[in-house]
Parts: sequence; C-alpha cells; structure tokens
Amino acid sequence: MPTQELKPRTPVSVSPDAGRTPGPERTAPRTGSTLNGVPTSTDPSREHGPAVGSVTEAIRQGLAFQPVVHPALASESPIIHARNFRLFYGRTQALYDITMDFPRHRVSALIGPSGCGKSTLLRSINRLNDLIDHVRIEGDMILNNTSVYAPDVDVIDIRKRIGMVFQKSNPFPMSIFENVVYALRIDGERRRSVLEDACERALKAAALWDEVKDRLRQSALGLSGGQQQRLCIARAIAADPELLLMDEPCSALDPVATLRIEELIHEISQRYTVVIVTHNMQQAARVSDFTAFMYLGRLIEYGRTADLFQNPRLPETEQYVTGRFG
Ligand SMILES: Nc1ncnc2c1ncn2[C@@H]1O[C@H](COP(=O)(O)OP(=O)(O)OP(=O)(O)O)[C@@H](O)[C@H]1O
Ligand SMILES: [Mg+2]
Repeated sequence: MPTQELKPRTPVSVSPDAGRTPGPERTAPRTGSTLNGVPTSTDPSREHGPAVGSVTEAIRQGLAFQPVVHPALASESPIIHARNFRLFYGRTQALYDITMDFPRHRVSALIGPSGCGKSTLLRSINRLNDLIDHVRIEGDMILNNTSVYAPDVDVIDIRKRIGMVFQKSNPFPMSIFENVVYALRIDGERRRSVLEDACERALKAAALWDEVKDRLRQSALGLSGGQQQRLCIARAIAADPELLLMDEPCSALDPVATLRIEELIHEISQRYTVVIVTHNMQQAARVSDFTAFMYLGRLIEYGRTADLFQNPRLPETEQYVTGRFG
C-alpha cells in the first residue's frame, strides 16, 4: 500500500494534560505528537484524495501518530479522561497511547473494525480488565479528577460509579425486582419502600415498567431478549452510576427491540453519560453525539458524530464509515 499524505483539513488536538491531576507512576511519556517521518502535503488539492494508507502505513512503520481530535471536544466538560493509556494482554499490546476525553451527559460511540480494541478500552474505564490474567496497563483513566487506577482506589466503588451493559444480556437468575435492586441490596439497603421506589424509577427510566409492573416477582429469565437487555439497563441505572458503558447492547436484538434501546439511550443521556460500542454505523449516527474511530488499538479520529460521518478529516475514517475500509 503506498504511503500517501496525511493532512487533516483541521489539524487540532486537545491538550492531553489540560487541567488534570497527576496520575500514578505507571503513566508513560507520550511517544510523539506528530506523524514523524510521514510526509504531509502542502498541496490543498491532495487533501481530499483517497489517501487511505497514510495512517495505516504510519502505524505499521511504528511511527509516532497523533489522532485527529476535532475542536468541538474542547468545549465539552469531560467525565473521563484517558491519558496515554496502553494495555497489554501478556506480550500483546491491544491499546496504544489512547488520550481522549469522554464528555459528560453526552453519548459517545466507539467504532472501528473487529479487534481494534473497542471492548478493551471500554473495560479499561471501569477496570473490568483487572479480571483478566496477564493484563498490564500504562497511563491512566481519570474519572472526575480521580485516577481510576490509583493504588488506593476501591475497585468495587469504581464499578458502581461506572455501570456496564454487555452485548449479551445477563439477567441474574432471580426475580425482575431483585435484579433491579441488586446493587442497593449489596449496599445493605433493606427498607422495602426505598427498594420499591428505586425499582420503579429504574424500570421507568429503562422503558420497561409498563411491561413488567404486574410481574415483578417473576423470574427475569422469562423476559424476551429485548426486555432482558432493558432490564440490565434498569439494573445498571438503579445503582445510579455516573457513567454507563454499553458494549454492542443491541447486536443480539431485532430491529424493534433495537429501536427501543436506542430511544432509551437517547432519554437516559439527559441524566447520564453513555459510552457505547457499536458496529452499526446507522446506530452510531442515530444515538451518539460524538464518535471515536479506532483502528489497530489506536484512536484515529474523534469528533461530533455528524462531522465524523459527513465531514471526516481523514480518508481512513471516511472509508470506514462508508463501509469501504476495515
Ligand atoms: N482476554 C484477552 N486475552 C488476550 N487477548 C485479548 C483478550 N481480549 C481481547 N484480546 C485481544 O485484544 C485485541 C482487541 O480486542 P477487543 O475485544 O478489545 O476488540 P474489539 O474492537 O472490541 O473487537 P470486536 O468488534 O470484534 O468486539 C484483539 O487483538 C483481541 O484478540
Ligand atoms: Mg468488542
């Protein structure tokens, strides 16, 4: 593949350390801030050409690489800041110097080809990767100015503050009611009225209340796939998280159930911050405010969803969102 020019139409990056607290010693120095060694064009007529290959070539040659972060991100208030985040499964590196902010009270979508590290990045935010053997990280994740990876951090507390919904719904083998109030029970809440209120609120927020209010004591396993997924969202919401992570939450659902979940994501984003992984470009375009395109473990381009889809700065992004690359 020929090496071609990589010249963003609007070359902008968000300062990686702006307003941040220092992270733990694991934080690694950034390896570079430009596409070192990759020639960039000064000829404006080349900016719009089909230059797929420049980013991929830079990555393959091991050159330092600066993702294109659109200026719109700079005016957002971040809830999570990933700083020079790297992750290794044993000797295999899965994430490379991810530096990015996830804006508060917005829906951000992670897109990119299979194996590019979307789920790994998502699991890194609430430290679910801790549960996998031989995982090593460098850099940091900052949640509201607190390091998620600080040595004294309470991981259980982090996972309470950052809820997660998986591709395959995973209701617990207990009643609908007990599923929803699970986190409250773990916290020692016993007051019936508090549990019932929380259950109703979460099920209403998850657009499931009307369908299940007369069968709260029945097993959650008797719900349909789409209902189970909304139940899992209700369970996550009931814990009152600051951030909700969703890893392909609709990939096992039919179009009607998918639409319900998408509407739900839109509604809950008024109160919560959502980061969603999806392979469905239409879904990313429908539900998210911001979209990040990842490739080979790197953040490549990140901006407002409308801009990323309609006016991407990089040819790789354009090729991917139009289904011609990856
Ligand atoms: N538990 C694990 N042990 C070792 N390697 C892993 C593990 N999980 C993921 N990987 C590797 O890390 C890389 C990123 O995987 P990840 O699951 O994050 O990709 P993804 O973008 O979510 O892909 P998909 O779209 O297929 O879900 C891949 O090369 C994958 O093989
Ligand atoms: Mg995945």
